[in-house]
Amino acid sequence: MTDRYAVVGNPIGHSKSPLIHQAFAEETRQDISYVAIESPLSGFAGIVDAFRREGGRGLNITAPFKLDARAYATDLTERARMAGAVNALKFEGERVYGENYDGAGLVNDIERNLGFAMREKRVLVLGAGGAARGAILPFLEREPASLTVANRNLAKVEALVTEFSPYGHIHAISYDQLASTAPFDLVVNATSASWTGELPPIPASSFAEGGLAYELVYGKGLTPFLRLAESAGCARVADGVGMLVEQAAEAFLWWRGVRPATAPLIKRLTIPLV
Ligand code: ATR
Repeated sequence: MTDRYAVVGNPIGHSKSPLIHQAFAEETRQDISYVAIESPLSGFAGIVDAFRREGGRGLNITAPFKLDARAYATDLTERARMAGAVNALKFEGERVYGENYDGAGLVNDIERNLGFAMREKRVLVLGAGGAARGAILPFLEREPASLTVANRNLAKVEALVTEFSPYGHIHAISYDQLASTAPFDLVVNATSASWTGELPPIPASSFAEGGLAYELVYGKGLTPFLRLAESAGCARVADGVGMLVEQAAEAFLWWRGVRPATAPLIKRLTIPLV
């Protein structure tokens, strides 16, 4: 029998998840269907209830429902709890398991695909919203030399750092302070600035020559952030297309017990950074 999966969001027309999961299913010979569902903004729980009644096995969750999904889940992993958001659900009888693979997907892309080992490196994350939050715990698990988080709103990033400090060496910083701080081997833009073509106020001196700059947003080409990183001497710049495919692969493995290959899809979905 075909097992049913879907991604829920609003809007959802742009989602690449059906294409990705259908390709995974074909490659691993799993008998599944995977569709996109647009939920009314205030109707998330009803949409998920109906999907479960019809035998649905799992869902990916995208904006703006990651907090609703967290509330809907009966069991959260520590990763999902600390991220404060859920991007994948698995249904088993009455239980609803909530996971968050955004950070794990990001780490997989950085370490496996881009060949950048985070251990002992100086890492800087820009932003203190949901996207940054999801990355923090998986980053700390890689044991970087230090993890620094910069945000315009300093009180917000200080609160975030306090919450995560039991898990590793993590510091909050203002953009002003970055100018007098040593450069970072890896700089991740987890702000929403690139959606509107804005540049977070990071000085060029924050990028270590030969380092890696990673933009979570994907499909926008060379954003102002990546452009600055390149001109500052970063050896490698990347956008979030690899993260998108890797988080999907983690969810697929969780649901189906088989890990699909990610490289062919990343290649297919990559829009050149020019
Ligand atoms: P998301 O879920 O995508 O992380 P969010 O929770 O709204 O979205 O958070 C957006 C983040 O991007 C915030 O950290 C925000 O900084 P502030 O908390 O200081 O507002 C950051 N951000 C948005 N636009 C930015 C810009 N132009 N420069 C720097 N940071 C920006």
